[in-house]
Amino acid sequence: MKTTQDHRASTTAVNRDYAAWLQATPVAVDAETYPFTQAIVWRAGTRVLDTAAAELCQGIEEAFAIEPKVGEAARTAPCRLYLGLVRDLPDSVAHQVSAYIQQVHGDGYAIVPVENGSLAIAGHTEAGCLYGAFHLMRIIRMGQPLAEPIVQSPQNELRMINHWDNADGSIERGYAGKSLFYRSNTVQFDPVRVRDYARLLASVGINSIAVNNVNVHRVETQFVTDAYLPSLARLADLFRDYGVRIFLSVNFASPVELGHLATADPLDPEVQAWWNAAADRIYRYIPDFGGFLVKADSEFRPGPFTYGRDHADGANMLAQSLKPHGGLVIWRCFVYNCLQDWRDRKTDRARAAFDHFTPLDGRFADNVLLQIKNGPMDFQVREPVSPLFGGLSRTNQMLELQITQEYTGQQKHVCYLIPQWKEILDFDTHACGQGSTVARCASGELFGRAHGGIAGVVNVGDDPNWTGHSFAQANLYGFGRLAWDPSLSVETITAEWVRLTYGDDCDVVKALTDILLTSWRTYEDYTAPLGVGWMVNPGHHYGPNVDGYEYSKWGTYHFADCYGIGVDRTMATGTGYTGQYHEPNRSLYENLETCPDELLLFFHHVPYTHRLQSGKTVIQHIYDTHFSGVEAVERMRRVWAELADKVDPERHHAVCARLDTQLQDAIEWRDVINTYFYRKSGIPDEQGRTIF
Ligand code: GCU
Repeated sequence: MKTTQDHRASTTAVNRDYAAWLQATPVAVDAETYPFTQAIVWRAGTRVLDTAAAELCQGIEEAFAIEPKVGEAARTAPCRLYLGLVRDLPDSVAHQVSAYIQQVHGDGYAIVPVENGSLAIAGHTEAGCLYGAFHLMRIIRMGQPLAEPIVQSPQNELRMINHWDNADGSIERGYAGKSLFYRSNTVQFDPVRVRDYARLLASVGINSIAVNNVNVHRVETQFVTDAYLPSLARLADLFRDYGVRIFLSVNFASPVELGHLATADPLDPEVQAWWNAAADRIYRYIPDFGGFLVKADSEFRPGPFTYGRDHADGANMLAQSLKPHGGLVIWRCFVYNCLQDWRDRKTDRARAAFDHFTPLDGRFADNVLLQIKNGPMDFQVREPVSPLFGGLSRTNQMLELQITQEYTGQQKHVCYLIPQWKEILDFDTHACGQGSTVARCASGELFGRAHGGIAGVVNVGDDPNWTGHSFAQANLYGFGRLAWDPSLSVETITAEWVRLTYGDDCDVVKALTDILLTSWRTYEDYTAPLGVGWMVNPGHHYGPNVDGYEYSKWGTYHFADCYGIGVDRTMATGTGYTGQYHEPNRSLYENLETCPDELLLFFHHVPYTHRLQSGKTVIQHIYDTHFSGVEAVERMRRVWAELADKVDPERHHAVCARLDTQLQDAIEWRDVINTYFYRKSGIPDEQGRTIF
């Protein structure tokens, strides 16, 4: 087997994309700027701390081509980098960090310059020290000064990745190759690759990973049995070195499907006993197992409804089995009627999660979290924030984002989602007055909850560069950074990713930053307009099909006719969905005059001639954005092409090829959408551009 070092060396030569934001190239600044890099002092012998020390050694070596002293030799070096829990630091160092470490909580850390040019990275936990080590390497690689102490604590307890990987190696909504974990219905992985993956995740603060698809099929149902647990335990062991705990998605009907019981009724004592035994078994193999992720009574997955029970009954039963081991149940709120009749104008899918879960608020066990998608529908390019945020106050909750670009270009298109996620996190629910942001609901801070966090459906597969599109790595990077600290600005995250991944050349930084920051808007411009969503080909969800879901059972309609378009979700004349928000959001969305343009068709059905706040009519807005969206892609392509001699050829070519595809597809979107609405409305484009 190749060592990590060999592996990286060979992949670096072929593909700098593999190293992602942890590039192994020398840095421009001198080692003297950071004199403490000569020697690293830590108490060896514990796993995560050893990982942290190894990361520092490797990072320093790659940056400066010097090998830091370790062990006894390090203790006598003139300048040192101390790493560890406060109790393990020499007294004089511990004394100097004590004021800072007192401000640290959870897996946070303090990075403190101490006497004679030395530095200390200290935490309350080993994982904290590891995150501190990665932070220091980020500073060094970006050539930043380190005069002032840094104190950091994670704002979210759970910073989680959800893999929608199946045992056969396929990935549901995966756009970057096959699973890193499974092949042919077995747990099969390259330990070097998985370790490198754990490293990438930990470097941005991710601490939890659900390793299989929320749609738990026949084979994955067996993951909780002795047939699969030994190999899953080996997988967990690789993540353990980097402080990442594994979770399993489980099938609610397991007791029946595995052939043991006649029922999965959560109130049946035999069912409880079955899950208790399953939990005991899992913890024998994986002592630090995180818990279960559950999709129940959702899109044909089994759940408590079969037995006349509710979600609280189901979640609490599982929670009881995990409780003695300290495990968590993460129960998803993606529950709606997926067998709707399109003729039925009363049922509104957007209402479903709120209607199902708010009556249960306060009934969930302490070790249950409800995982709520950011919007009420399904990861569209634009949706309002789910009103469950702010709607639940006595329940632990988590925000679910989609890093994998199912509806946002499937990693063929550039769509940098950090600006979207920032809007979501900063959205004020007004649940407890002003400042009741989604970020505070999800972390648990707003309602004083015991648990909270952010989960992202990940965009990674076994493609050599992890994410297919090189720029899609930025979404994974930014996800981790925001899960750690939702208050980070888009600009900070973007600058970090661009410089760490593509280097410091001003032209590259400027061009790439510009491409990333405009890409979400651009994607929105050439796809479904004004928040109405969908308009994609059914099933795979790629490419335009305006009526693809219009006469389907999925509850995803735009109601376009020859007069107008949009879904009336008002309380006055529509489905009443706007009433699920607190004031002033409720009135903001309810009133046509105040509803933000970008969500207009989500909330209102209007004539094509309706004038937006921008001053344009709806129809002209549709035409204009679809033309300008394509122009923006042409611009991106031009700007990137100009960087040919500033970016390594492999990455440059690969991105060029994806931008070519994006442009072709954007043109298709433009022409299909514009033509559709021109034919429906009969209203010509004011500028007389070509519409078919
Ligand atoms: C979307 C997606 C499905 C997925 C589901 C979920 O509908 O298309 O593939 O299973 O979300 O989040 O459970």
